[in-house]
Amino acid sequence: MLNPRSQFPVLSQAGHSLAFLDSAATAQKPLPVIEAMNDFYKNHYSSVKRGAYSLSAKTTALYEQARAKVAAFIGANPDEIIFTKGTTESINLVANSYGFANFKNGDEIVLSALEHHANIVPWQLVQNTLRRFNINIHIKVLDCDNDGNLVFADNHSPSLRAECGNPDIFNSKTKIVSLTHTSNAIGTINPLNEIIPIIRNLAPQAQILIDGAQGVPHSHISVANYDFLAFSGHKLYAPTGIGVLYGKRELLEKMPPYQGGGEMIDKVTFEETTFAAPPARFEAGTPPIAEVIGLGAAIDFINEIGMENITKHEEQITAYTLDELKKIPEVQIIGNPKNRGSIISFLAANIHPHDAAL
Ligand SMILES: Cc1ncc(COP(=O)(O)O)c(C=O)c1O
Repeated sequence: MLNPRSQFPVLSQAGHSLAFLDSAATAQKPLPVIEAMNDFYKNHYSSVKRGAYSLSAKTTALYEQARAKVAAFIGANPDEIIFTKGTTESINLVANSYGFANFKNGDEIVLSALEHHANIVPWQLVQNTLRRFNINIHIKVLDCDNDGNLVFADNHSPSLRAECGNPDIFNSKTKIVSLTHTSNAIGTINPLNEIIPIIRNLAPQAQILIDGAQGVPHSHISVANYDFLAFSGHKLYAPTGIGVLYGKRELLEKMPPYQGGGEMIDKVTFEETTFAAPPARFEAGTPPIAEVIGLGAAIDFINEIGMENITKHEEQITAYTLDELKKIPEVQIIGNPKNRGSIISFLAANIHPHDAAL
């Protein structure tokens, strides 16, 4: 097997070997990703779907191959994969497109206390805009306990409604449930396989969006149980400026465009425009082609190492780090989730976090 560390040029700084601890924010780039993008710029550069010349045909093939790789990586169909700028744009796309087309007065959105701002603010913006048209939608928040587990995380019973502290959190008005796969703050991996059937039972009409920004880079994720999945390329060893929205085909087909421009249309006149089928409908304008190709190369890189090897390695170094941190009496680890990813937050007594980081 290739030595993964040797694949990251930035880790071999002149004179010393760099330890990079900010991978939850963004991952370093391995050689195959850098080389795939260089190769594109050096040898094939052109725009996609411009037809009549061979460079563009080759570029279009590389672009669509990357879409197929992403689809296979998460168990989806290629036409269910929309390229966006990142998790943030993916969630904004759903909030705006699905939200404005479907939200009615009194509808409810359920988020959790573990969400990143990218999964809070887009819903508030839609809420604010709809209010101007006298449509009031409500945002409800699933709480988490002091350990960082969603309050019903260990509740396997369909009587969740009566037991979860907020009895009606899922009901016939719930339109969207948008939850993170893994908390970026505490590291909690939510037990989605257990809670999604409960949500489907209590609110069968609701669509379930999963924020996979901190989940997709670290373990096998299949979209089988999700309606939407959002994630970012740059946390997955791919470049910045590229992300993914997976949406179930039958949902995407009914959703209006999020942005207007070239490539997303079927026919344009000054009176009326008809739109292309998904995914093109949601990819207005010239896309980030090199970044898409880089994302495809990043997925090949992960597949070559084996996601199960990545998961196992991260479990080992997380357990080791926790053990070592617990030996320092001044360190207080924040949260103790039942299932933890490779993120650890801690306080060092009386030391400002900025100073501790330095
Ligand atoms: C859980 C989670 N969701 C969403 C985001 C936003 O991702 P991006 O800034 O790549 O759009 C992040 C980024 O840190 C995250 O950790």
